[in-house]
Amino acid sequence: MTGDIVFENVSFSYNNSKEILKNIDLTVKSGTTLGILGGTGSGKSTLVMLLDKLYEVKEGCGRITIGGVDIRKIKTDHLRRNIGIVLQEPFLFSRSLGENIGIKDPSITLDRIKAASVAAHLHETAQGFAKGYDTFVGERGVTLSGGQKQRAAIARNFTTDCPIMIFDDSLSAVDTETDAKIRAEIEARFGTATVIIISHRITTLSKADKIIVLENGRIVEEGTHDELKCAGGVYQDIYEIQSGSSGGEEAAS
Ligand SMILES: Nc1ncnc2c1ncn2[C@@H]1O[C@H](COP(=O)(O)OP(=O)(O)OP(=O)(O)O)[C@@H](O)[C@H]1O
Ligand SMILES: [Mg+2]
Repeated sequence: MTGDIVFENVSFSYNNSKEILKNIDLTVKSGTTLGILGGTGSGKSTLVMLLDKLYEVKEGCGRITIGGVDIRKIKTDHLRRNIGIVLQEPFLFSRSLGENIGIKDPSITLDRIKAASVAAHLHETAQGFAKGYDTFVGERGVTLSGGQKQRAAIARNFTTDCPIMIFDDSLSAVDTETDAKIRAEIEARFGTATVIIISHRITTLSKADKIIVLENGRIVEEGTHDELKCAGGVYQDIYEIQSGSSGGEEAAS
């Protein structure tokens, strides 16, 4: 599944109540990275969930196309096989850590699970457990921290080779240094993929080919980091807070 991802005048509401996304027009060129910034509740997760057909754009409310094809016409399982999505609240099954990482590929080897885990900076954590990758996690097993869960979900996506990758605030619970290392890994692995990264951290978004800022379901700013950091809008404000002297970049994240 290749080609540009295009949102054409997409509006969306859950249960016909308040409009959550309003007239979204957006093109993500094939093979580029889009960064999304926006306050809590601004519609970031909703936007990527629509792309993965976790919710449906209603007739008459615009359309989303990939390579020119309306995603309504793409079979859901085919679409999802081509989109690797790390959800904001990753889900772990009541299974071993290794099984959780390798769940997308029934024939996966332990070596590939380990390689994905190393790349997601989870390997040390796994080695710290007495049973390593056989450690049971989830409801009936070891409780992983938020950051460990995120890295397990990232490792899971590192086992696949999807042409479209989405990371919804997936690095929020890891420290900035690990965040940078994992992003470098994402760049190296998915060089040809189309990547969408949602984050509250400017450092996570700054290298994206294009960044949009969402506010109350609308795109209020669009451009590169260099353009937006002096555009006088929300992006600049957040950039200045996070890079300023007020306690470092963590200050506003
Ligand atoms: N399943 C749902 N049913 C009804 N309303 C929802 C549902 N999911 C989200 N919303 C509402 O839609 C709006 C946008 O939510 P969304 O999760 O897209 O925001 P977000 O930008 O991802 O926020 P955050 O930064 O906190 O993750 C919010 O007002 C939220 O309450
Ligand atoms: Mg969200």
